Amino acid sequence: MAIDYVPIKINRLPDGLFLDCKVYIEKDGGYSFYCENVSVTPSLIERLRTVVYPNDKIYITANYMEDFLKRGVDLGWKPEPPKIIKPEMAKTFSVASESLVPNDEKPDKPDTESPLMGKGFAKGTTKADFERVRKEYQETKEATKVMFDEIAITRRVLPSTTEEFVHDIGRKLETNDISLILQSINSMRRVDEYLHTHSLNVAFLNGLMAKWLKYDKKQHDELVRVGLLHDIGKLVVPQDVINKPAKLTPQEFELVKKHSLYSFEMLVNSGITEKSVLLGVIQHHEKLNGSGYPHGIDAKEITDYARITAISDIYDAMIAKRVYKDAHSPFDILANFSKEGYSVLDINYVKMFIDCMIEELKGKMIVLSDGRVATVLMVNERNLLYPMVEVDGEIITTSPELYCVSVYNHNVSSDEVEKIL
Ligand SMILES: [Fe+2]
Repeated sequence: MAIDYVPIKINRLPDGLFLDCKVYIEKDGGYSFYCENVSVTPSLIERLRTVVYPNDKIYITANYMEDFLKRGVDLGWKPEPPKIIKPEMAKTFSVASESLVPNDEKPDKPDTESPLMGKGFAKGTTKADFERVRKEYQETKEATKVMFDEIAITRRVLPSTTEEFVHDIGRKLETNDISLILQSINSMRRVDEYLHTHSLNVAFLNGLMAKWLKYDKKQHDELVRVGLLHDIGKLVVPQDVINKPAKLTPQEFELVKKHSLYSFEMLVNSGITEKSVLLGVIQHHEKLNGSGYPHGIDAKEITDYARITAISDIYDAMIAKRVYKDAHSPFDILANFSKEGYSVLDINYVKMFIDCMIEELKGKMIVLSDGRVATVLMVNERNLLYPMVEVDGEIITTSPELYCVSVYNHNVSSDEVEKIL
């Protein structure tokens, strides 16, 4: 039997409300039964936040919603028309479960099901390549979490463990199409997995920069290690400050600014002595005009590893969807680098990063602001924000009226695209 349901944002759920109905969550194009007959408490909200973003919606049954509205509860939003969950799309999901739908339970849809399937990948790569790279990326991400949990407890970094990561990242960059790795980096992440995911992504991006710069193995490995460990000092800053879903107070910001110093100290205490790695870590928030932290040093003193890591750090922070802001599209970020980055970032590295990213974005599928999916044909260096694209058989240059909102990811359902819009 089909189920009528209406969406409601987690942030709008009034505290103490008894939800005497079934609650569904949406993921990967399906709908999972989450729980029923529960009171809205901070712990329920927290559990929901571990599986969807706070501004995303959960779904409650339509009859219940009507009753809800009749009681005059002001939710601050206009109810949307009920949708129907088809029985085959509804899956059972335990409240305490970590993942929404186990991978092996997901239907293996044929490539031919959607005209978009298989088109969002790099030239010469297939859906199977994408799935393999995505799976490997997920595994590395989980291993990074384990490593970061250990560092949080011991406040030490085991050089042998980081060696393995650096080697693994180098192997993945050598053997896979770069655009597939970028697609994993660009995918949405959960709020509670920000630090280790960000660190892994910066390590990958640093590895890419090393590759584009034709660095030798020693330099590549050092730069990847800087990316992986640059923010470990955040593990010793109070987590309620690090994860605060709002703008930090000046005092809190001063506390956060100490993290690069703490990262440096943890590495020294762990016996890491490579000066290039230590300087790359402690300087990754320094700016060429002297306005950075922790020491406010200027261009003369800032090392190449720190300059490169600053670019990777900013790119990943902007691409991430976090609790207090929406994600940016890659074009948005590149345009921003071009407009504002040159006074504080290294102009040569920024130019190289933009040029290489443009090459990677050509031929890729993107989502436009009207919801249509387009293919990138050309990116003008002087107008990075608005690439020329092909959409519905027509060639157009995007504009403030019709622009890219994200790179197309075939794992994101059309409703999730609506949320991004
Ligand atoms: Fe940082």
